[in-house]
Amino acid sequence: MSTAPLRIGVLGSGKGSNLAAILRAIQAGELNAVVSIVLSDNPTAGILTLGRERGIPTEALPVSKFRSKLEPEIETIAAEKFAAAQTDLVVLAGYMRMVKAPLLVPFSNRIINIHPSLLPSFPGLEAWKQALEAKVPQTGCTVHWVDSGMDTGKIIAQAAVPIWPTDTPETLHGRIQEAEHKLFPACLAKIAEDPSRA
Ligand code: GAR
Repeated sequence: MSTAPLRIGVLGSGKGSNLAAILRAIQAGELNAVVSIVLSDNPTAGILTLGRERGIPTEALPVSKFRSKLEPEIETIAAEKFAAAQTDLVVLAGYMRMVKAPLLVPFSNRIINIHPSLLPSFPGLEAWKQALEAKVPQTGCTVHWVDSGMDTGKIIAQAAVPIWPTDTPETLHGRIQEAEHKLFPACLAKIAEDPSRA
């Protein structure tokens, strides 16, 4: 008996290229999933336009006063919307805040993130700039489970990306994103195929 499609709820703050990669993998039959809802903490984020264009239920959350987290009542709204969309897995696709109890508790062990470095190196914001400044020969991207720390949850998979002497923050982030667009859908496909999920 085939497994039902994994119901993915996406939370992102940016342009949404990782969401686009996930949707491409679904369309190509490489990922047995459906994106049930797209939420953003940023009302002008490209990820909202992309979600709407693809006919996915898509909503901006109320604007937060904080930068690094959401107010508990706003995060509760997100959790309720994911639950109402029968979300199996919350996918952080370029979400720029910490996740706190109102979302972490109801979706315990069911939140996954992509981060643009080889964790545990360079957690936090603009990790590609941190890697350039540290003059390391390579960086990459990491898919991991989300816990209450900053980019500290259990690592699922990583992909390395070399750093060239000619790299700017933009060229390096672009190359990391190419790696992200392969690694993230592949990790989601493995989760979707996991027989213990049914
Ligand atoms: C991605 O590179 C992702 O790894 C990063 O934001 C970008 C979002 O791009 N996430 C973080 O830095 C999380 N701390 P996208 O909106 O095009 O998917």
